[in-house]
Amino acid sequence: MKKRYSPLNQALHWITALCMFAILPLAWVMINAKAGSAIQHGTYNWHKTLGCIVLLVTVFRIGWRFIDGPPPYAERVAAWDRHLAHLVYWLFFAVMIWMPVTGFMESAYDGYPIKLFNLIQTPEIFAKNDHMASLFAWLHGLGQWPVYALIILHLLGVAFHLIFTKSGVLGRILPEHALDPNGL
Ligand code: HEM
Ligand code: HEM
Repeated sequence: MKKRYSPLNQALHWITALCMFAILPLAWVMINAKAGSAIQHGTYNWHKTLGCIVLLVTVFRIGWRFIDGPPPYAERVAAWDRHLAHLVYWLFFAVMIWMPVTGFMESAYDGYPIKLFNLIQTPEIFAKNDHMASLFAWLHGLGQWPVYALIILHLLGVAFHLIFTKSGVLGRILPEHALDPNGL
């Protein structure tokens, strides 16, 4: 019986995590940077580019999960704990679609199409519309709160298992020989 997520699922998890941990500080810098400065343009473009990568990876992951799913949990992991973990994952998947889509729509209606990797300009797809831009800006801003809450819950969950249950949960998302997924 498999004990770990497959290497592909592990890689996709860590690519997403790295992107998320870059997207958030980029957001805080870009919205506070001097308007029109090179640093503001650069941080916006990288925020948007990494957000699009998260969207693509997440859509793929959701489909792929049905073919190559998570490994079964160790018996020691309680039923309530598994349910909570699954709830957090599905909410994560939902916000990782919600955030890029609302961010994309905001930029498109605001007349600022994405410059991928701060290099490749993409075309304008909508006419500028301030009302729609502020609606999507509001939806995008609102979505950050569940993102923060889920990251905190997820990391508390990992810490709880590492410290108290020692059920090897972290090993499930790490390569062979990193940690024993049957317990520390
Ligand atoms: C998982 C992906 C994403 C996350 C977690 C995320 C998160 C955030 C956060 C936390 C802010 C600051 C909100 C505030 O304080 O008002 C923000 C702002 C922004 N994001 Fe994203 N974002 C993501 C993807 C995207 C994408 C793909 C785009 C565009 C293609 C985008 C465009 C923007 C824009 C234009 C703002 C400025 C909002 C404003 O002040 O009007 N974001 N994002
Ligand atoms: C913002 C960053 C992160 C996001 C969005 C995220 C999201 C996810 C998601 C959606 C899953 C479920 C995967 C699936 O079932 O297909 C997962 C699993 C997991 N993540 Fe993260 N993660 C993040 C950061 C981290 C970090 C920093 C750690 C370690 C400290 C971590 C440890 C784990 C572990 C151990 C699992 C497997 C747990 C289990 O099988 O129940 N994650 N993560």
